[in-house]
Amino acid sequence: MKKIIVANWKENLSVKEALVFAKRLKSGKNQAIIAAPFTFLPALEKSKNIKLAAQNVSAFAGGAYTGEISAKMLKEAGCSFCLVGHSERRIYFQESDEEINKKIINLLQYDIRPILCIGENKAQREKGLANNILEKQLLLGLKNIKDVSKILVAYEPVWAISTFQKSGVKYSAKDTDIIAAHSFIRNFLAKKFGAKARAVEILYGGTVNPQNSKNILKLNEVAGALVGGASLKVSDFNAILKNN
Ligand code: PGA
Repeated sequence: MKKIIVANWKENLSVKEALVFAKRLKSGKNQAIIAAPFTFLPALEKSKNIKLAAQNVSAFAGGAYTGEISAKMLKEAGCSFCLVGHSERRIYFQESDEEINKKIINLLQYDIRPILCIGENKAQREKGLANNILEKQLLLGLKNIKDVSKILVAYEPVWAISTFQKSGVKYSAKDTDIIAAHSFIRNFLAKKFGAKARAVEILYGGTVNPQNSKNILKLNEVAGALVGGASLKVSDFNAILKNN
C-alpha cells in the first residue's frame, strides 16, 4: 500500500540545496511531501514529484499580524499540506491547543490538509498519562470541526523525536507502542467523529530512518511517516520512500 512520507526540514538547508534535493528525489512507491521553510516554497513548487507542505501557518486569516503567513498565502505558494502543532512549536513557542485549532480551521477553508502533530512527553508517559494527552490534543485541536476527513494526524511522541534526545543512540518508539497509540487515536476519532474519521491518515514520527522505516511502515496502523533528521539527506529520504 502507498504510504505518505513527510520530510520535515525544520529550519535547515537553503533554496539551492532544496532544489538539488528535489532533483535527486526518486519517485518511490510512497508519496513524498516536503514540509519546507516558507522561503523555499516558490522554488519547490515546480518540482513534479513533490507535494508541498508548510511547517506552520498563522492562527489569523489575515490583517495586522506582523511576521505571520496566512493559509491563503500558503495556498498561493502551492501548499497542499501544512504541519500544525509540532512539538517544537508547542514547546519552544508555547503554541496552545486553541491556537492550533484556529490554524486548522483556517487551513481547511483554503483546502490545505492539516497534519496535526500530537504526542506525549516522557514525564507524561511515565505517569501513565499518554492517552489523556493524545485525547486532549485531539479534542481541542479539532474543536468545532465537523468534517475531519481532510485531516492527517501525526503521532509524534516527544521522547522519540531525535532532537529532543540529548545523548546516546537515537531511538524511535517500539512497534507495540506505535500500534497502541495509533489504535487509541483511531478509536477516539471514530467515537468522536463517526464515519468521516475513517479517512484520517495517522502517521508516525520520531527517529524514523532508513534502518527502521521498513519495519514501521509495514504496520497496518501506520499510514506513513513524518521524518525530521533523516529527511535532510536525499539518499536517506529516498531509502525511506522506497521502503515498505
Ligand atoms: P526526527 O524528527 O525524525 O528527527 O525524530 C521528527 C519530527 O520532529 O517531526
